[in-house]
Amino acid sequence: MEEKEFKPAPVITIDGPGGAGKGTISQLLAKELGFHFLDSGALYRLLALSVDNHGIDLDDEKALGVLAEHMDVQFKATDADSPAEIVLEGEVVTQAIRQEHVGLLASRVAATPVVRSALLARQRSFRESPGLVADGRDMGTVVFVDATLKVFLTASVEERAQRRFSQLKEAGNNVSLARLEEAIRARDEQDTNRAIAPLKPAEDALILDSTNMGINEVFQRVLGATKQRLSEQR
Ligand code: DC
Repeated sequence: MEEKEFKPAPVITIDGPGGAGKGTISQLLAKELGFHFLDSGALYRLLALSVDNHGIDLDDEKALGVLAEHMDVQFKATDADSPAEIVLEGEVVTQAIRQEHVGLLASRVAATPVVRSALLARQRSFRESPGLVADGRDMGTVVFVDATLKVFLTASVEERAQRRFSQLKEAGNNVSLARLEEAIRARDEQDTNRAIAPLKPAEDALILDSTNMGINEVFQRVLGATKQRLSEQR
């Protein structure tokens, strides 16, 4: 009998700094392809919230590792058009984890090696048939090095701050553009300069600067590249 070769499900990774549009593009792509979606940043944000809730000291690496390993999280799909509802230790935190200060704390927690290794298996378990779109900082460089396509999506700090400002304003939040820009710079600095799994494009990444591109243009470029790679792999 002919033996069938085991092929892991294909993965498309979309890495880049905060606010570059990775989340939107990844979700559109996952929907278009019928693939699963991993928002790895949400895992670091959830851990940050949990650290805050339990009053854990950021220097207590052992406690951070234990929490990362055992964190009780559920991603509950609602309908096909809305992002999953996120539940942490029984509480719905879908909105709470998006706050600016949680992102900054997530970025600090994410620089701890025990945390990153504790979250590796959890992230890889999202890789299921028919495929996965994974959004983060090190999806193509560390977590899914054999990805079918690796995209690095970026945009200028000013443009990312402006986009975030418009989103928050539309949602009725009063924020200062200058403070947002400052927070984005601080997070970029932390994510890029950490010793472990720093934010950088994979050597074989398709680099897209979306500063002067609309969402649709970026999506079409990523979709085109994805379809080409998937057909080459068949
Ligand atoms: O993508 P995000 O803004 O939700 O991510 C929040 C923080 O989590 C980010 O500043 C750094 C960290 N992170 C990481 O270190 N590695 C990832 N793969 C995803 C996020």
